[in-house]
Amino acid sequence: MENITIAIPKGRNLKPTVKLFQTIGIDASIFLTDTRKLLASQENMNVNFMVVRDTDIPTYVEYGAADIGISGKDVLLEKETNVYEPIDLKFGYCRMVLAEPEDLRLHDDPSTWTHVRVATKYPNITEKYFKNKGIEVDIIKLYGSIEIAPLVGLSERIVDLVSTGDTMKANRLVEVDEIAKISARLVVNRASLKTKHERINGIIEGVRANLDAVLKELE
Ligand code: PRP
Repeated sequence: MENITIAIPKGRNLKPTVKLFQTIGIDASIFLTDTRKLLASQENMNVNFMVVRDTDIPTYVEYGAADIGISGKDVLLEKETNVYEPIDLKFGYCRMVLAEPEDLRLHDDPSTWTHVRVATKYPNITEKYFKNKGIEVDIIKLYGSIEIAPLVGLSERIVDLVSTGDTMKANRLVEVDEIAKISARLVVNRASLKTKHERINGIIEGVRANLDAVLKELE
């Protein structure tokens, strides 16, 4: 069996990812413990694992440092990495939205916008979105807690992810528009797809066959 390296995401997609691979006999559960190890392997399956930040997964996969990875669609859209994306895994579901303060929304008319200032973790997606609408945009790149930006006058608007909606609500922000629906994706290095065809196809098919059962278990 060919050796294969899988990039596992830290954070909220870690657990579903480990569960998913477990169903096809690939066991990355070491990363659910408090280990500080970033690399591991499972010899009987010829698998190496790495655990990295979700935002870095497409980079490892594009360069072939990992053959396969699990990445949020938000990261894939932002980075436009050249990877093969065969499966929507449907977990890690959330939405990317444009939002602004409740009070502003009351008298705001987005159809009159010509120039806006937006804080976001996703500058490329944001730029494209406004370019498409012919609106000029100043983008302020932040790395987290984006919802605070309008509250302290850094920007009037934000582009960010919404899951339950609790963070927006707690900070008195409302959605103006949905930009994209987001979920986790299986991604594959394009060269590995050819050089390790059989192995990778086996994994893709295995994941496809077991996905619904895993999603049910996660409910
Ligand atoms: C994400 C996202 C929102 C929040 C949405 O942030 O950026 O802030 O979750 O979730 P909710 O709709 O269920 O409230 P995350 O927790 O990843 O932290 P961050 O602010 O550091 O990005």
